[in-house]
Amino acid sequence: MHKHLYLLPIVVAICAAFALVDEVDGEYLIGVGSYDMTGPAAGVNMMGYANMDQNTAGIHFRLRARTFIVAESSQGARFAFVNLDAGMASQLVTIKVLERLKTRFGDLYTQENLAISGTHTHAGPAGYLQYVVYSITSLGFINQTFDAIVTAIEQSITQAHNNLKPGSIFLNTGDVVNAGINRSPSAYLFNPPEERARYTSNVDTTMTLLKFSDSASNKSIGAFSWFATHGTSMSRDNKLISGDNKGAAARFFEDWFSFTNNSISARITKFSTTHDISKLTKKAEKIKATGGKPCGKTTSQGFKVRKNDGTRFVGAFCQSNVGDVSPNVLGAFCTDTGRPCDFNHSSCNGNDELCVGRGPGYPDEILSTKIIGERQFEKAVELFSSATNLLSGKIDYRHTYINFTNLEVQLNESAVVTTCPAALGAGFAAGTTDGPGMFGFQQGDTEINEFWKKLRDLIKEPSEYQVDCQQPKPVLLSTGEMFEPYAWAPAILPIQMLRLGNFVILSVPGEFTTMAGRRLREAVKETLISNGNGEFDDGTHVVIAGLTNTYSQYVATFEEYKQQRYEAASTLYGPNTLSAYIQEFTKLAKAMATGEKPIGTGLLPPDLSSVQLSLLQDPVGDSPPSGKRFGDMEQDVAQPKGGSFKKGDKPSATFWSANPRYDLLVEGTFAVVEMLQGERWIPVYDDDDFSLFFKWNVDSSGLYGLATIEWEVTEVAAPGVYRLRHFGSSKKTKDSPNEYYTGASSAFTVS
Ligand SMILES: *[C@@H]1O[C@H](CO)[C@@H](O)[C@H](O)[C@H]1NC(C)=O
Ligand SMILES: *[C@@H]1O[C@H](CO)[C@@H](O)[C@H](O)[C@H]1NC(C)=O
Ligand SMILES: *[C@@H]1O[C@H](CO)[C@@H](O)[C@H](O)[C@H]1NC(C)=O
Ligand SMILES: *[C@@H]1O[C@H](CO)[C@@H](O)[C@H](O)[C@H]1NC(C)=O
Ligand SMILES: *[C@@H]1O[C@H](CO)[C@@H](O)[C@H](O)[C@H]1NC(C)=O
Ligand SMILES: *[C@@H]1O[C@H](CO)[C@@H](O)[C@H](O)[C@H]1NC(C)=O
Repeated sequence: MHKHLYLLPIVVAICAAFALVDEVDGEYLIGVGSYDMTGPAAGVNMMGYANMDQNTAGIHFRLRARTFIVAESSQGARFAFVNLDAGMASQLVTIKVLERLKTRFGDLYTQENLAISGTHTHAGPAGYLQYVVYSITSLGFINQTFDAIVTAIEQSITQAHNNLKPGSIFLNTGDVVNAGINRSPSAYLFNPPEERARYTSNVDTTMTLLKFSDSASNKSIGAFSWFATHGTSMSRDNKLISGDNKGAAARFFEDWFSFTNNSISARITKFSTTHDISKLTKKAEKIKATGGKPCGKTTSQGFKVRKNDGTRFVGAFCQSNVGDVSPNVLGAFCTDTGRPCDFNHSSCNGNDELCVGRGPGYPDEILSTKIIGERQFEKAVELFSSATNLLSGKIDYRHTYINFTNLEVQLNESAVVTTCPAALGAGFAAGTTDGPGMFGFQQGDTEINEFWKKLRDLIKEPSEYQVDCQQPKPVLLSTGEMFEPYAWAPAILPIQMLRLGNFVILSVPGEFTTMAGRRLREAVKETLISNGNGEFDDGTHVVIAGLTNTYSQYVATFEEYKQQRYEAASTLYGPNTLSAYIQEFTKLAKAMATGEKPIGTGLLPPDLSSVQLSLLQDPVGDSPPSGKRFGDMEQDVAQPKGGSFKKGDKPSATFWSANPRYDLLVEGTFAVVEMLQGERWIPVYDDDDFSLFFKWNVDSSGLYGLATIEWEVTEVAAPGVYRLRHFGSSKKTKDSPNEYYTGASSAFTVS
């Protein structure tokens, strides 16, 4: 402080602005926020596996946008970091969010100091990216997905902004055990032996965690962590919206902080009046299903277990250099023989479709998601509880747009190479062990057969320049040369550095492999130290925030590129892509270390919103079968033998229900487990709980919607009387007003 006497007036102003705070001893202003971004839960393709058959059919748990903002002072430097339960960031989302922030906050949050990062769940709705490759399987752009995400980001930033208060930030790091394995170990082996010898593992096991504390109350308000593992615990066949393992970790962590012991039922056990099961069962027998009843637009919000009042603890699990890291830690096996797949190609007798990775809960993908989520959650709790390294020092940021199409890269004094227009190789079509792709391709293919070449040339024959430039990648789709009906791949990419004292975040618009990430972090750190005049040292901690601000697939090392497995085949801009990133990031790092602004490139990514094709139809009006109302039972809870359910049982009920796309019930819920307390029903689980499943389908006639609510009775569920409640919204025709309804099942007991 003593160095900054000239800041005194500002400090006084802050103290005045926070008159309730006795004493401002925090180093920074800190705010956190969070908002529901679940999106359309029926009939919308999911982002990640590019599987046309994988369309949403309900919700396992909700998706959220989680934000932290840090500022030196109310007028000083600041940045905002948003973590999305989404497959990745999207250029168009970023553009629209920036427009909305400009309207709200003027120039406070810009492309320079806002980072939007995806967790890489493969179980969220698609249709929010603007380049053709990323919206083929979703049949183009889907406004409902897009709008849910943009709004959630805007709302979570606004919350964080409104919450800004003096506070401290602690950094901690530690190793997460067995939450990721390298899914392309043969490619990793292409990296030089002396380089590999410097590391004990072929994946990064470090989790980096920031803990945010409020100065006035000395209470924690949030924590954000970074750790690399794919959001592919849920498979390509899953149809329930899910935050995958990182979303699960966030749910567990926030619940751990807010409720302790990860359970709400534990909290209300004390209200239980009797544990006499026969008495409870007699009581339950008398309580029949209510039938469908009208309710209001926001009624379901009142039934939420975790209401968003804007002041809750926010725990986020962010993605890092995830390129070659799989959460399916048991390894990949052939589905026909049960034997391990071919090492170099991850195929089974040449068939890529048969080689599938297994999570620790195999064959139960929900269990795998839980276990990989818990491994991250438990480490985060440990790091959170023991964090003492107080961050101090400048907040700063650098950002630039680069055209990666034909960038000159100076490797050393004598060698200059270039990047290429974007292209995908044959290994891309093979997919990965987390989600096999098309028959007829293998990871590691460096040739394409004549048949596929002919087909490819019908779509677009790659230029000779491109074919040479991308060597040894066999160009399957020359996406950087395809512009019909609009650009298939990005050319202009943002890169960004955010600094918080001696902690630095590198926002990268893609999935760096383990070794690619290590090289980038190391180059940036060296540059900061050698140019920083003592401001940076060996204690400077650099993390990669993957899938941030936009998406451009993978970045493998030059050596890994030679093998052309999936990650290399998806490294868009050719063998020198990583070198280009390192060159451009070190320019930013130098500028940051010396306090200069880098020379702008004058580039801006295009806004393709006006040319997006949208082929997916919105639902056009629903009605229940004659004699029924929405919210009536189609199938009531089947009472169990012995009269009561036990831990692990799955009571379920099915309601007549309209398409959940008529209203996403944002910050509300489609499903609730209620528990009887005296004469009152109390919500104890909702559709944001890991134990509760909301499934939506059309009945066998193809005419009527059905919502099934299934609850897996938890370990900590208190004995008592329960029932399942459904909320929904319908429209008679496309243009009629929304009508809202609710209904509850008959009661049942848990012993
Ligand atoms: C997208 O959805 C939002 C919110 O419903 C709406 O305001 C907007 O007009 C829609 N845009 C398009 C292009 O349909
Ligand atoms: C704030 O809380 C931490 C533990 O949560 C404790 O170690 C510290 O002493 C507290 N500081 C003050 C000023 O009360
Ligand atoms: C709840 O958490 C506390 C503190 O972590 C622990 O001591 C206690 O054993 C836990 N109770 C249950 C039921 O898990
Ligand atoms: C994998 O390929 C490498 C050459 O790239 C070869 O040396 C190695 O023997 C192969 N391994 C197996 C198990 O086929
Ligand atoms: C990117 O660079 C390439 C090659 O120089 C050029 O053809 C292309 O127009 C540039 N793209 C944009 C969007 O500026
Ligand atoms: C420069 O880099 C190229 C490509 O990696 C390499 O072949 C060459 O030996 C290097 N030259 C010097 C002087 O280091």
